[in-house]
Amino acid sequence: MRVCLWFALLLWGTGSPNFEPARSLREQADARGMLVGTAVRPYALSEMAYSATLGREFNMLEGEDAMKWWVLRPDRATFNFTDGDRVVGFAEVHRMKVRGHNLVWGWTNPAWLTNGNFKTQELSQMLEEHITTVAKHYRGKVFAWDVVNEGFDEHGKVKPSIWYDQPGIGFAGKGTAYIEQTFRWAHAADPDALLFYNDGGAETVNEKSNAIYAMVKDFKRRGVPIDGVGLQMHIFDLAPDLAGIDANIARFSALGVQIHLTEMDVAVPLDAYGSPSPEDLAKQAEIYRRVASACLAHSGCTAIQTWGFTDKYSWIGSATKKAKGAGLLFDRDYHPKPAYEGLRQALQKQ
Ligand code: XIL
Repeated sequence: MRVCLWFALLLWGTGSPNFEPARSLREQADARGMLVGTAVRPYALSEMAYSATLGREFNMLEGEDAMKWWVLRPDRATFNFTDGDRVVGFAEVHRMKVRGHNLVWGWTNPAWLTNGNFKTQELSQMLEEHITTVAKHYRGKVFAWDVVNEGFDEHGKVKPSIWYDQPGIGFAGKGTAYIEQTFRWAHAADPDALLFYNDGGAETVNEKSNAIYAMVKDFKRRGVPIDGVGLQMHIFDLAPDLAGIDANIARFSALGVQIHLTEMDVAVPLDAYGSPSPEDLAKQAEIYRRVASACLAHSGCTAIQTWGFTDKYSWIGSATKKAKGAGLLFDRDYHPKPAYEGLRQALQKQ
């Protein structure tokens, strides 16, 4: 009898709004069939607060650098999967999806590659070998790849790079043809992975996103295997063009591809002590809420990912010469910030 009474009280207690614990981002996202992810640094996984927060709050992750050429390829003959495998291992234990980032990029390539004076034929073989080996290694583990990262300049021209035209893999001067080739190689290596083109500065409707839009439309029409577009969403200005972001997500969604917000952070100015103001943190929270709501409003937008989750580990300091920072959802001590609440509110709606 006493046990029954205790049990009844327990049930009553958990049903009451006063006792209901706030649901994590992950729980909210799971309930809506959404992916909420973050970039991770393998060396931080051994930190208790880092891994506990990561596993509790996110149902997806991506190596911040772990699968880039300069980490995977210490030299031409070697593939070093140590960092990438740690990230994937964490995800498996915590039942999280893994995005792969990235197979082809003109920037942050290892010096042996950029200074190697390789000829077109060699580069073509090396890139095909890289894409094939990496995508096969992670087959069944990485569900979506950023195949090409940052291929266009701000005017929508294909960016000069070692892969495009310096000297390139054989499609110099032929616009998006080299991108097409890399998507075909990636699809051949892992036909089940979703293949994304990922870029920054293309979040709103502008020359760059117009060029990406035209490429995706062309690829879809001709059956080039592309499944999605990653919008990085690094926001450095506290008054972003939210209507433009919404319209851009809407038009890509209407093309029938998925949209992932892949690298969101919202940098805020820091004072002399390295602290943000409460007003700016409130603005930041509102930006997270509005951008996430824009994603959730369009059926094609299926993932919201931040570029790290604690201000302790963020690239913004180095990207802004320490003028800005505090761009993420948790502070340096892993306490949730107003930005966390902003994203949670967006996920909670409906
Ligand atoms: C950045 C990482 O955060 C840094 O650790 C690294 O030193 C350089 O790259 N766009 C991208 C990311 O697609 O890969 C970049 O990440 C940030 C800009």
